[in-house]
Amino acid sequence: MCCIFAVLLLFPIFNVNSIGTNYSCSLESGEIFNDQADFGYLAPRLPIHKICQGNSELVCSDELTFCTGKNIFFDFSNLKISQKSARYRDDVIGPGNVGGFCNESFDKNLLDGNLNYPGYLTSWSDELKHFVSVENAMENCDVIFEKPTILMKLDAANNMYHHFCDFINLYASLHINQSFSQDGNVIWWDTHPEGYLDQMFGITWKAFSNNTPIELKSLDQKKVCFKNVMLPLLARQRDGLFYNSPIVPECSKSELFSNFSDFILDRLLIPKHQAELEKVRIVILSRSTSYRRILNIREVSFSKILFKK
Ligand SMILES: *[C@@H]1O[C@H](CO)[C@@H](O)[C@H](O)[C@H]1NC(C)=O
Ligand SMILES: *[C@@H]1O[C@H](CO)[C@@H](O)[C@H](O)[C@H]1NC(C)=O
Ligand SMILES: *[C@@H]1O[C@H](CO)[C@@H](O)[C@H](O)[C@H]1NC(C)=O
Ligand SMILES: *[C@@H]1O[C@H](CO)[C@@H](O)[C@H](O)[C@H]1NC(C)=O
Repeated sequence: MCCIFAVLLLFPIFNVNSIGTNYSCSLESGEIFNDQADFGYLAPRLPIHKICQGNSELVCSDELTFCTGKNIFFDFSNLKISQKSARYRDDVIGPGNVGGFCNESFDKNLLDGNLNYPGYLTSWSDELKHFVSVENAMENCDVIFEKPTILMKLDAANNMYHHFCDFINLYASLHINQSFSQDGNVIWWDTHPEGYLDQMFGITWKAFSNNTPIELKSLDQKKVCFKNVMLPLLARQRDGLFYNSPIVPECSKSELFSNFSDFILDRLLIPKHQAELEKVRIVILSRSTSYRRILNIREVSFSKILFKK
């Protein structure tokens, strides 16, 4: 109880009174919708677990879906990017390869109790399960990131649906952390020898950082120290956004999504034009595979779309 209260005090933005009151669906469904697809999604993902405190800090949400850290190191001696290195590896961080100096408290049981949702795009448990507290945590660093740095494990870049799962979760993470600065660094945590190629949507990173994202492979074999690091919400969490999102029927107009859309357009300086109806061309790709079919494609009336005044 005390924690819930403290969380509400810390994050007054989640105003429970306004939840679910302005969707065009029932109040009951609206509350569920708010938790599934709007700002209510953030409350269960707040970093309430203080795993490490003192000279270093590590605080995480339930099941390590979101964490922030101060004075944390990652040792990439196990990374060993070669032609054989696969994407989505869960073995980058081995015993002793991550830690801090938690001279006030280190709650190993708390860490161990939140490792139940492993998976590359589900949580940070594979990267944090070996976290240790050591006195010389921030010594002998090959690279030191002074600025706030965001580590990104990424979904497919060649598909807008998948890649924007990354971006909306990053945007949601900024809300959790209540920080929207573009002055920090982004590291693409990708283990493929070619790195993370982001030709189609790569411009979108400019909305989050003024600095060019850094490839993980450039840190291979190095001990890397972070003064201030964020491990944001990932693209394929359980009941996450928006890959396999369960969504209550009938509700719409998520403020989280419309604010995300405005945020991206504002930051990329893209003007928002009114739609010019007679100039809009709609292309619908209807697939005949087992998955990802538009089940009600026959209900789309093309004549209505084309000739509606
Ligand atoms: C609900 O949404 C409508 C239309 O978007 C808006 O005009 C109205 O002010 C909103 N009401 C509340 C209580 O936010
Ligand atoms: C932890 O270490 C920091 C820096 O070395 C020091 O300032 C702080 O007093 C220490 N805390 C405790 C409880 O020893
Ligand atoms: C997260 O919030 C903390 C505390 O305000 C801040 O120091 C840090 O820079 C933020 N992290 C990022 C990546 O913006
Ligand atoms: C969403 O955007 C609206 C309009 O800019 C703003 O009033 C509102 O505070 C934003 N919501 C959150 C939770 O930031």
